[in-house]
Amino acid sequence: MRGSQVRRMYHSGLALVVGLVACTGRPTTPPDADSSAVPGPVEMVDLPAPRSQGAVSLEETLLARRSVRAFTDQGLTLVELSQLLWATQGITADWGGRTAPSAGALYPLEVYLVTPDALYHYLPEGHRAEVLSDEDLRIELTRAALDEPAVYGAPAVFVITAVYARTAAKYGERGERYVHLEAGHAAQNLLLQAGALGLAGVPIGAFSDDDVARVLDLPPDRVPLYLIPIGHSAE
Ligand SMILES: Cc1cc2nc3c(=O)[nH]c(=O)nc-3n(C[C@H](O)[C@H](O)[C@H](O)COP(=O)(O)O)c2cc1C
Repeated sequence: MRGSQVRRMYHSGLALVVGLVACTGRPTTPPDADSSAVPGPVEMVDLPAPRSQGAVSLEETLLARRSVRAFTDQGLTLVELSQLLWATQGITADWGGRTAPSAGALYPLEVYLVTPDALYHYLPEGHRAEVLSDEDLRIELTRAALDEPAVYGAPAVFVITAVYARTAAKYGERGERYVHLEAGHAAQNLLLQAGALGLAGVPIGAFSDDDVARVLDLPPDRVPLYLIPIGHSAE
């Protein structure tokens, strides 16, 4: 199917059908629950400590949130990227609790970040990121996202992936629902944090799972659920 066709299906609502078909196949081949290690990180980045106070209220951020698909050329700072990663999956409790709720506190989500400089994988423990590639993968990622221009035009694309087996180990088939709900929580955290920082973005569901996994060289247990380009709005 051509990208433009899938985009039309998304915009006409039919993408829901595509999404459901894709989802039903996923948990039937659960990988090892403990296959979370990513081999061969090039480098580890200690992220700046996230801040817990901001300039705008939650209510103002909610009021202003709108999907934005066009961005200026301005890049994001490491401080901004750090804050956005923390909002998505950062640890906020001694026992490991995070910014987003998780069924059974099993934390099935793994977050990747594509920038013009590198591909990062966020490590909530220690608030660090491992650098998996120093290439700009945005052109390839855009192709995997059916030529969605918001992906290429953004200075940062967050990719929320899921390891279904972590949740299925306790909740069985119902775990699939929980994982998808959790991706929504994490995505909204990210979008609201972006808004609070004066940034904007859009959650993208229309992409080829296989192509995104190939571009990011994801371990086989990780399924991409959301691409979320973030930047300074040009709209
Ligand atoms: C699950 C989901 C998938 C989405 N996928 C796409 C997408 O593939 N492409 C896109 O341009 N927008 C996508 N969106 C954004 C919606 O089009 C957008 O949220 C909607 O038009 C409402 O506008 P608002 O976000 O500004 O309130 C998606 C939103 C959700 C919740």
